[in-house]
Amino acid sequence: MAKDKTIYTCSECGGSSPRWLGKCPHCGAWNTLVETVAEPVAGKHRLSALRQGLASHGTLARLAEIEAADVQRTPTGLPELDRVLGGGIVAGAVVLIGGDPGIGKSTLLLQALDALQRAGLPTLYVTGEESGAQVALRARRLGLADSQVPVLAEIQLERILATLERERPAVAVIDSIQTVYTEQLSSAPGSVAQVRECAAHLTRLAKAGGDGGRDGTTLVLVGHVTKEGALAGPRVLEHMVDTVLYFEGDTHSSFRLVRAIKNRFGAVNEMGVFAMTERGLKGVSNPSALFLSQHAQPVPGSCVLVTLEGTRPLLVEIQALVDAGGVSPRRLSVGLERDRLAMLLAVLHRHAGVACADQDVFVNAVGGVRIAEPAADLAVLLAIQSSLRGRALPQRFVAFGEVGLAGEVRPAPRGLERLREAAKLGFRVALVPAANVPRKPDAATRELLAAMEVHPVERIEQ
Ligand code: TYD
Ligand code: MG
Repeated sequence: MAKDKTIYTCSECGGSSPRWLGKCPHCGAWNTLVETVAEPVAGKHRLSALRQGLASHGTLARLAEIEAADVQRTPTGLPELDRVLGGGIVAGAVVLIGGDPGIGKSTLLLQALDALQRAGLPTLYVTGEESGAQVALRARRLGLADSQVPVLAEIQLERILATLERERPAVAVIDSIQTVYTEQLSSAPGSVAQVRECAAHLTRLAKAGGDGGRDGTTLVLVGHVTKEGALAGPRVLEHMVDTVLYFEGDTHSSFRLVRAIKNRFGAVNEMGVFAMTERGLKGVSNPSALFLSQHAQPVPGSCVLVTLEGTRPLLVEIQALVDAGGVSPRRLSVGLERDRLAMLLAVLHRHAGVACADQDVFVNAVGGVRIAEPAADLAVLLAIQSSLRGRALPQRFVAFGEVGLAGEVRPAPRGLERLREAAKLGFRVALVPAANVPRKPDAATRELLAAMEVHPVERIEQ
């Protein structure tokens, strides 16, 4: 096969160069040039055709006249997955699902495909990582020995495209995009250029279905996370697809979280919770108490936080350990941002006079959850303070609230909902931002506030 001309494109600015260079000549970024196939340029001809009025123009439509049918969603048979997808899969949508190796991506998708196939939708599972026999073994393990899901063990893009074209499945999984390669490029499978080129071809095919009266194929691309914690060629893939899901979780615990990072067909930051069992992933529909470790007695350095995951309040235990450090004390956090921790320690020092400059500070969110919202601040500070003083916080105590640089405690979104969830799980004392407690509570809120001892705070010194 004749090779197309290759050029080098910057993954930051999209500029191109005929040769590989260490530094992009357009935006000056380093090491961003990747090999790509040059688009054939019509150049002069296109322009002269335009001048002569030969080029056909596109058709315009007014927004109001375009039929905006509500997207059709097909449930996958896994309610927790549907929740992150925004209700189910959408025909012609492309979903990228990323995560560490071994976290359960293949398991989850095989379960979903099988459920869809049983519901009467034609599916296709393209495996580039495992042989058909290995996939069959997994299906047996999942109790799906009689599964009718068609499996294609193939890594060459052109053959995958031809199969998709012929079979026209409603849902196809490519496991994984990093194993697929096209002969158009000389770079190795898994390189940014290959991943981008293959994903672009597959996406085009998935979307193409719509015009011929047929629905497009819902395409699910599995992507591995590199050592730096990003999908290979993250920028190029993330903007190409409609939905980006990330699989998270501690490999030592059986819980797996699936989070939406981007979703053109639903809300982001929704989270699906699964438990990995002997027979595959099982949805956990009420996960709010999952991330609490069970202490018989209250222990120092632990504070329960009510965080919000999408629309669901979730109780997570934050643990802190403050210990005498060496010359350069360490600040380590698991599941929380380290920069945020440094900032909180500075605020604690400046506004509450609590110094830990010579102490090692470790903070951990129990169960491998990752918490990005600033409403965790208050709980983190309380856990640190509790560890520093060696005194436990009261029993059945929760906290939430954002802490500002001036030492003020700012309200968290949907404060009452958080309190309600905490009350439901038997928590009785709460430290919350003053602005989260309504001045004129309605009857239901009054009842909630009566059931719990709520302490509103405005500043961290309090
Ligand atoms: P897998 O889906 O292969 O992960 P990925 O595709 O993300 O690399 O998950 C494999 C892990 O899950 C492996 O460590 C075994 C475990 N597992 C179970 O615990 N129960 C099961 O039923 C299955 C199929 C796998
Ligand atoms: Mg896999």
